[in-house]
Amino acid sequence: MTEIDGRATIIDGKAFAGRLVERVTAAAARLSADHGVRPGLAVVIVGEDPASQIYVRNKGERTREAGMRSDTHRLDAATSQADLLAMIAALNADTGIHGILVQLPLPGHIDAQAVLSAIDPDKDVDGFHVVNAGRLAVGLPGLVPCTPLGSVMLLKDALGDLSGLNAVIVGRSNIVGKPMAQLLLSENCTVTIAHSRSRDLAAICRGADILVAAVGRPEMIRGDWIKPGAAVIDVGINRVPSRDPVKAAEGKTRVVGDVAFDEAVAVAGRITPVPGGVGPMTIACLLANTYTAACRSAGVEPEPLAA
Ligand code: GUN
Repeated sequence: MTEIDGRATIIDGKAFAGRLVERVTAAAARLSADHGVRPGLAVVIVGEDPASQIYVRNKGERTREAGMRSDTHRLDAATSQADLLAMIAALNADTGIHGILVQLPLPGHIDAQAVLSAIDPDKDVDGFHVVNAGRLAVGLPGLVPCTPLGSVMLLKDALGDLSGLNAVIVGRSNIVGKPMAQLLLSENCTVTIAHSRSRDLAAICRGADILVAAVGRPEMIRGDWIKPGAAVIDVGINRVPSRDPVKAAEGKTRVVGDVAFDEAVAVAGRITPVPGGVGPMTIACLLANTYTAACRSAGVEPEPLAA
């Protein structure tokens, strides 16, 4: 974390993720050397969505850098649901693959829930399968969605014990909002999930010791929605036109979060920047989940990875 001029302390997710990846890389090397199991991750992408292409390429590179096997399956946008399900069945049966990730969004003719449900829950490194959602809800060991997992690691590193804190999560997605609520509940927070239909969102946010923004709307959370001293976790990754009108006219963009950072940094106690906050934690946790899945497949207790 970095202190800046008495304003909020910046939570450096990039640095934390770098340390986590180092620990995963070392643990994976020991799993390979001691038990002959090299963790393997298969990523499946259907179609040409440009943002998804970049995410998938990054995931492949990071996986290889961590010394793991990385297979990327690029399927045509017209791929049928039956063919995709057949590929998942083959990956479920492949003993060299411990993690399977199907990049979302999928083309409209494919039922994403049917596809996610076809993944072996023990290889579901995204933690999106209903079995893993259920395990998380009842407190059983499973695979936890990467973005909320990484966000909670950052919060515990920044704040220590989270017991009794009021946590407000803005956004109710299955990928972030709901699992984040479960994780914070298991850390003994008092949890509120707010969303687009919530009445007086600003007032709800002002009650938060921990405010998690996961709505996908650029800079929606304003500075005066934040309780002074609160910890703010910004999950948003939104592309908006460049500040420079000439560059904007050329189509240049910049990335902002769901929080109006310049306002929030003057009020919050701690805050994740965008980029460089939660984003790098997502891939680091994907590698951690792949390592964990590989250990479990071999009946080996995973090494503790949290700092
Ligand atoms: N698309 C955007 N984020 C994610 C993610 O975390 N997992 C998958 N599978 N697809 C995504």
